[in-house]
Amino acid sequence: MAKLLIHGGKKITGKLRVNGAKNAALPIMAACILVKGEVILKRVPDISDVWVMANILRSLGAEVDFEGRGEMRINTDNISITTAPYELVKQIHASFDITGPLLARFDKAEVHLPGGCVIGTRAVDLHIEGFEKLGAEVEMEHGILKAKRKELKGARIYFPKSSVGATKNIMMAACLSGGRTILENAAREPEVADLGGFLVKCGAKISGIGTSNIEIEGVKRLKGAEYSIISDRIEAGTYLFASVITEGDVYLEDIDPKFLESVIAKIESTGQKVEKGENWIRLKATRPVRALEITTAPFPGFPTDLQPPLASVLTVADGTSIIEETIFDGRFNYVDELRRMGADIRVHDKSAVVKGVKKLTGAPVDAMDIR
Ligand code: UD1
Repeated sequence: MAKLLIHGGKKITGKLRVNGAKNAALPIMAACILVKGEVILKRVPDISDVWVMANILRSLGAEVDFEGRGEMRINTDNISITTAPYELVKQIHASFDITGPLLARFDKAEVHLPGGCVIGTRAVDLHIEGFEKLGAEVEMEHGILKAKRKELKGARIYFPKSSVGATKNIMMAACLSGGRTILENAAREPEVADLGGFLVKCGAKISGIGTSNIEIEGVKRLKGAEYSIISDRIEAGTYLFASVITEGDVYLEDIDPKFLESVIAKIESTGQKVEKGENWIRLKATRPVRALEITTAPFPGFPTDLQPPLASVLTVADGTSIIEETIFDGRFNYVDELRRMGADIRVHDKSAVVKGVKKLTGAPVDAMDIR
């Protein structure tokens, strides 16, 4: 396990280009299972989750060539295996994204459940209901979701809860299904929209991308294409919070501020001034940092993935902040680690009360949550 030794007390200052989004790259890599011919992906982040997904695709028989510099070539023409090894699948939650594409292409998929993780329970009931509505038979055995079908058909599917994962999986499966599929209360996250954009580039017929009503007209096949992944709004947000907590000055390039409207609004409520243009954001932090109240929500609300970095900022704010977490039940697991550094945080069920302290001090801590 990697160890980082951080000497504090320095300002985070500088200019950087935001990387391609992990949460867009992973499902788009999985979606290549649907495609005949070569896919060239640009701006793929060189991170371990991407390497794991590349190995999952290779384990199925795909050719994946990733030489760094963000360009990845994927060809799944010779895939013949419809199940991936548990040792790989358990490493990343997004491994479950291969289920919809395998089912659509091979009429069957057997995928180990990705399981829960440090941020909480991660159910897959909405994925299962969606596959069943598309005409698949689904059963669970030995921790493996087994789905098979005679023929996938279009369907009207209402998600009682907005789910990024279920929207992605059903959207991918529906691309090669017969007929029209309508997804209601679909997730609107930019990464889901980016997956939709990629599928369209490969020949899928999808409308309503980026809205909560997505319509997919099944086609016979998808063809290879070249596609550039959107920027990682969570990475960008993390740098913005790093700037605030260290009273630094960051200039982020290659990031559409529209992806971060709720985040920028909250940063401004702490008293900071955020400058932005079409594809850049600058934050020169000032003091004091005001306390605030915040509730996480699906996009366009405040993202749960930026709740831990925001909480870190609020530990040194003037006053008491309240954070309500509505997406993941384990998303306050990092709190004890911040307490070791002197933070004053109390968690009551889904809420955390953060009383600002003058400063934090260095301590040995575990990074419980990747964020
Ligand atoms: C994705 C992101 C993650 C982000 C999250 C919410 C990836 C790889 N991960 O996770 O970084 O924090 O979206 O924006 O893109 N749920 C059910 N039943 C289901 C599916 C989900 O109850 O069948 C629940 C989950 O337990 C969770 C909530 O719905 O409480 C949101 O989950 P979902 O939007 O699906 O998130 P993920 O795709 O797991």
